[in-house]
Amino acid sequence: MNTLHDHALHRHSLAVILDNQQPSGAFLACPTMPDYQFSWFRDGAFIAYALTLDGWQANQTHQGNMGSQWDSAMRFHNWCAEMINRRTAQLERTIERVRTGQPLIFAETLNARYQTDGEAGPGDWPEFQLDGPGTWLWSLTEFVKAAHIDPLPLDWEQAVITTSRYLAALWRTPCYDCWEERGSDLHISTMGAIYAGLVAAQKLVPGLDYSATIQAIHNFVLAHGLTPGGELAKSVGVEMVDANLIGAAVPHGLLKPTDPIMQRTIARIECELHAPDSGLHRHLDDVYYGGGAWVLLALWLAWYYLETGDIQRADALIAWSERQADADLNLPEQVNSVMLASVEDYELWVKRRGPIANPLLWTHAQYLIVRHLRQRIARG
Ligand code: BGC
Repeated sequence: MNTLHDHALHRHSLAVILDNQQPSGAFLACPTMPDYQFSWFRDGAFIAYALTLDGWQANQTHQGNMGSQWDSAMRFHNWCAEMINRRTAQLERTIERVRTGQPLIFAETLNARYQTDGEAGPGDWPEFQLDGPGTWLWSLTEFVKAAHIDPLPLDWEQAVITTSRYLAALWRTPCYDCWEERGSDLHISTMGAIYAGLVAAQKLVPGLDYSATIQAIHNFVLAHGLTPGGELAKSVGVEMVDANLIGAAVPHGLLKPTDPIMQRTIARIECELHAPDSGLHRHLDDVYYGGGAWVLLALWLAWYYLETGDIQRADALIAWSERQADADLNLPEQVNSVMLASVEDYELWVKRRGPIANPLLWTHAQYLIVRHLRQRIARG
């Protein structure tokens, strides 16, 4: 770090994010891949967190004026609140259905993908995902804290109440995970995001009390969400790990980064999913673009190591990630220099969707987050 390349990559990461924010406040996941020219709560929540951290730095140098980062984060949070508030009635009906034991109507749940005008993305997508709204609530709290937003705007308060009621009602409902896979499973990483969302909601709106549900999620994961080896499991009853479990500790806080369960989980991720001198595979069954090494996951693991003080490991992952930037300094979702699956699997996806998503805004966001934390450590 602290090289010319690092400064240029910082500037470019910010530019990629700001340039791809839509007038509505939504961020495109990736401007070049047609299937990713939509906005997700999940990707946006990490992007907004990156802007929150980066804006804090800018505010230091701009005498407390709100920099473009915070302005952009604010517009994203406004967009999320609007997406949710527009759907309050259908979400309340969903909460009631779950409460009374009726089957879900998926058209009345929150979508994963939205078009720039706020309409839901086209139907042929695994839309029912609960981690995104949870991560959004966490990201919103971080922004509100950093930017000292007090009182909470009324439309944000309304959206926080609806989202948290929805998550508290549905946390035990199978859904697609953050990779948009395995829609019949209960995913531990998703539970982590819901947990973080409910903790966040209580901070944002003091009248809300989810302490019983928060405790129940924690107990449920310890009782049903571990592998025989005592790691967090990818999903209930699945004897595998997934790199998305990093999120259970950082940033979702379901377990402390130093909790022995988390340490065992990371050790198994290192052993099974961290390709030597490379990035991380998502999970051993991955065939998406051949199951390559994800740059955003390498940065996510670096984030974990920065939290636990393992700076050497973090630096190696950051250095590898920086080397994955192309000549224009764009960072992709994943690289195919190491693949778990076959070349045919890779080619199949290229035929279906085009080249690997590049630039991926979420990867650039992870870079900004990790860079900010690394510099904070360097400053002491
Ligand atoms: C990933 C999701 C992500 C989406 C947009 C999908 O391929 O699995 O995690 O939200 O791309 O970046």
